[in-house]
Amino acid sequence: MTGGTPDPEPTVRVRPAATPADLGRAFAIRHAVFVSEQQVPVELERDERDAAARHVLAWFGDVPAGTGRLVAETPGYAGLSPDLGPVAHLGRIAVLVEYRRRGVGALLVVALEDQARRLGLSMVYLGAQVPAVGFYHRLGYQAYGAVFDDAGIDHRHMRRILGPTDGPRPAPLADER
Ligand SMILES: CC(C)(COP(=O)(O)OP(=O)(O)OC[C@H]1O[C@@H](n2cnc3c(N)ncnc32)[C@H](O)[C@@H]1OP(=O)(O)O)[C@@H](O)C(=O)NCCC(=O)NCCS
Repeated sequence: MTGGTPDPEPTVRVRPAATPADLGRAFAIRHAVFVSEQQVPVELERDERDAAARHVLAWFGDVPAGTGRLVAETPGYAGLSPDLGPVAHLGRIAVLVEYRRRGVGALLVVALEDQARRLGLSMVYLGAQVPAVGFYHRLGYQAYGAVFDDAGIDHRHMRRILGPTDGPRPAPLADER
């Protein structure tokens, strides 16, 4: 049949990537974004933290479109106060270029924060590529410290303290610099 109402935008869902097949999908997205698009050396893109990390996949309808991971770090990680306890380190957040600017990245961050809450972690850290600082800031993250290089790309440290629910984002923390 032709004409009629166009199909609605597919639903985006974020799910854990725990099976070998889903992990393969997550790594393929990372390869496309970080290695092919951003020229990060392949030997830096996959690292030893992947084995212990919790990975998620964002499904745009039935297409795996984005991914990210959470690694639990010891108190004091990345210059944060040890009093804040163990740190949920979000990373490898990537959305395939053709699925960007539809809220997939934000849903990935929210899903990883939910994982952090389930693990009892309330301090969240990420190393943001400088052009993406605004994206994370809108999600409640505050930049701190100096710009640093990771895999040839300028980054900022960013952090957020999670509340117990998905309620309003807390006010930004004062910059430490
Ligand atoms: C950063 C990234 C994950 C965001 O994914 P996304 O699905 O486009 O995110 P959302 O749709 O939830 O939010 C997009 C918003 O963030 C902003 N944004 C996202 N990435 C940005 C970037 N690199 N530079 C500037 N603004 C950016 C956009 O302005 C956009 O807002 P708008 O639609 O109102 O203009 C995606 O752009 C990406 O994979 N980039 C390449 C890899 C990368 O940089 N990862 C982050 C590593 S720290």
